[in-house]
Amino acid sequence: MKTILTDLRQFQYFYPYTVAVVGARSGEGVNYMSCAWHTALSFDPPLFGILVAKKRRTFDFISDANEFTVNFLAREDIALSAQMGRISGHDRDKIEEFAVGLSAAAHIQTPVLEAAYAAFECRLRDTRAYGDHVLFVGEVLAVQIEEHCFDAQGMLDTSQVKPLLYMGSDFYMTVDPETLEHKLP
Ligand SMILES: Cc1cc2nc3c(=O)[nH]c(=O)nc-3n(C[C@H](O)[C@H](O)[C@H](O)COP(=O)(O)O)c2cc1C
Repeated sequence: MKTILTDLRQFQYFYPYTVAVVGARSGEGVNYMSCAWHTALSFDPPLFGILVAKKRRTFDFISDANEFTVNFLAREDIALSAQMGRISGHDRDKIEEFAVGLSAAAHIQTPVLEAAYAAFECRLRDTRAYGDHVLFVGEVLAVQIEEHCFDAQGMLDTSQVKPLLYMGSDFYMTVDPETLEHKLP
């Protein structure tokens, strides 16, 4: 029998989610934050959504830049996730302080993270507030991948890279590749 909860202050029953670091270049500066709330929205055109609270520095940067990158992290980059996800660009320059490696995007001005096993270059297509978060919808103009991390169909090869999963409350884990199963009805 399930317990019914109506006090939803600890509303995190949906985890695990993969960790992405999202951000933008605005003017001379760049700012990124860890983002677990993200989702694909459409194949054609390729649209990807990220949810960013209005108080984040990243909210200002993406709103100014009208573009952003989404950078997926491996388990070994857990420290990077904690740094980007628990320190605000309102207070410190995280990219300089933690010497975060950046490389150029092909279609936008915002760099991708060198550490990412996959990164999306997105042009902002829509912005809509939902409660305390804002949904930024990006059209994916290009995807950069570490090719050895994916198979021919574009599926993540977890023998090569362990994705970083977020469990909420600063807890992380990864997947067990031995549980991979191909099943049709
Ligand atoms: C693993 C992880 C995932 C997070 N996911 C989100 C998210 O989806 N949306 C959000 O607004 N904040 C999220 N946060 C919090 C922001 O990353 C955090 O507040 C960050 O310091 C904001 O930085 P900024 O002010 O430089 O943008 C997450 C934090 C962590 C550690």
